[in-house]
Amino acid sequence: MRNRIGILHGVNLDMLGKRDPEHYGELSLAELERRVDAYAHELDLETRFFQTNNEGEFVEHLHRLGGLADGALINAGAWSHYSYAIRDALEFSGLPAVEVHLSQVSQREIWRRHSVFDGLVLGVVEGKKERGYREALGMLRTALEEADQ
Ligand code: DQA
Repeated sequence: MRNRIGILHGVNLDMLGKRDPEHYGELSLAELERRVDAYAHELDLETRFFQTNNEGEFVEHLHRLGGLADGALINAGAWSHYSYAIRDALEFSGLPAVEVHLSQVSQREIWRRHSVFDGLVLGVVEGKKERGYREALGMLRTALEEADQ
């Protein structure tokens, strides 16, 4: 089974551990990535992590990712709500993708309820903090298994 997953974190997610723990939990980004890596190993998935605060770098990473990964797990932070450039780049990658938010974006400010990835991603997991990443990896694994049949 194809099993390489790109795990992308966008703007401000390098500040995890210092941001509001009610919304985002207590883990730093490095700790979150270690958890996600452990979840991925349980599911026989390989991980490739990336984070930037620079929208252009995020887009360029997506341009390359199609050749380097079989699926994408994406938490683009606030870009999720307005960056159609990132949506286009994810579409360009051709990868099956799941969108994750640590916080319950659908229950917060109105501007967080809209996602540029609507209709493009396989699914959205929100409000489950780090456990949401496990669920998202499970969704990607199922999609890759089905695609290989
Ligand atoms: C977030 C939700 C976004 O609205 C916010 O801008 C973030 C993090 C989340 O993981 O809950 O930076 O994507």
